[in-house]
Amino acid sequence: MATNGERRYFEQLDATDPLREIRALFDLPDDRVFLNGNSLGPPPRETWNRLQEGMLRWRDDMNAAWWDHQWLQLPTVIGDRIGALIGAAPGQVVVGDSTSVNLFKLLCGALYAQSAGGRSVVLTDRDNFPSDLYIADGVARYVHPAATVRRVPAGEIIDHLGDDVAVVLLSHVDYRTGHLLPMRRINERAHAAGALVLWDLAHSAGVVPIDVDDAGTDLAVGCGYKFLNGGPGAPGYMYVAERLLPDFEQPVTGWLGHTRPFDFTADYQPDPGIARLTTGCPPLLSLLALDEGVSLTARADLAAVRAKSVALSREFIALAETRLARFGIEVTGPVDGAQRGSHVSLRYESAERLAEGLAATGFHLELRPPELLRFGLAPLHVRYVDLFDCVAAMEKLLADADHGGLPR
Ligand SMILES: Cc1ncc(COP(=O)(O)O)c(C=O)c1O
Repeated sequence: MATNGERRYFEQLDATDPLREIRALFDLPDDRVFLNGNSLGPPPRETWNRLQEGMLRWRDDMNAAWWDHQWLQLPTVIGDRIGALIGAAPGQVVVGDSTSVNLFKLLCGALYAQSAGGRSVVLTDRDNFPSDLYIADGVARYVHPAATVRRVPAGEIIDHLGDDVAVVLLSHVDYRTGHLLPMRRINERAHAAGALVLWDLAHSAGVVPIDVDDAGTDLAVGCGYKFLNGGPGAPGYMYVAERLLPDFEQPVTGWLGHTRPFDFTADYQPDPGIARLTTGCPPLLSLLALDEGVSLTARADLAAVRAKSVALSREFIALAETRLARFGIEVTGPVDGAQRGSHVSLRYESAERLAEGLAATGFHLELRPPELLRFGLAPLHVRYVDLFDCVAAMEKLLADADHGGLPR
């Protein structure tokens, strides 16, 4: 039996990986290893065909394509497909604009829903993804002047649930450390304190089993281009629990959120369902690509995806600790796989130079300045052997660096 100091050990893990056949459905380069699928998932092979088909329909059917191919329904159709990946029954998820814009809409709606009770605080993790913090500040500044944003450490959220808190805004998985928050427990505690919770699922949907309905989640947003493989700039999505939907209001009241947009009436009347969250024409070609990414993601059993994600993280952390610690590299975030999402960040003082060196040897990951190297361990296409090879490449670069070998 090979040990985890040998490449053969990782080859054996790949040979028995129940997800190994799915990798072939991606259009991956032969000469590079894609370790940033948690930021931009690679293209599914089928996306080429789907986009070409969309182009042909656009050319041949022109404006009628919107009707002939049910293009206007795609935001809710794909929304339901994403819903199946995050445990939402149909009718509660819709694809919208970017995650940031979607977050703006839901945050405004949550504050509005809570305003009758005099609650006006947005309680959030001080290390939340910057766009989420900026949007919260922007909402407080420009839309709800009575609102304030309270930033506290993620581990202290529950201690700050006072009777002025309207909404708790959290990322399910921390974009830097990979720390996975306990959704159900936070929902329960927030609800007991009278607050709503708005989750950002950008780094968990498609890779961590989520059951938004069962966990009593109120509101959520997420990205289409990360683990859902929807492509660069793919639109994100919004979840509003059915129990909140009939009264849920959002401020960007465009015509496609209207109950009968093609009546062209002068006054706005929101759609009774999740379509009230939409605004204008959907980005059709991007939706087709997103649909392919979501369909590919949905082909895998999410329990197997999670099991491989935990195993990849465990192996990667063990390799980093045994082979890289002597160069001053540290693993960030929880070591326990149950408490992390599907990326691992390593701290290193010359992170940028090391990332450049790795890119030059074919390993593509991400830098989170100043000192973090973030490795996306997407179970649908990352192999165990990729991790062994990447750590071996890092070890070589770092050993050479002691002799001036890293790029300057
Ligand atoms: C956790 C998280 N939330 C939000 C966003 C922003 O997404 P968008 O560019 O679609 O607004 C990102 C982007 O990387 C993210 O990682």
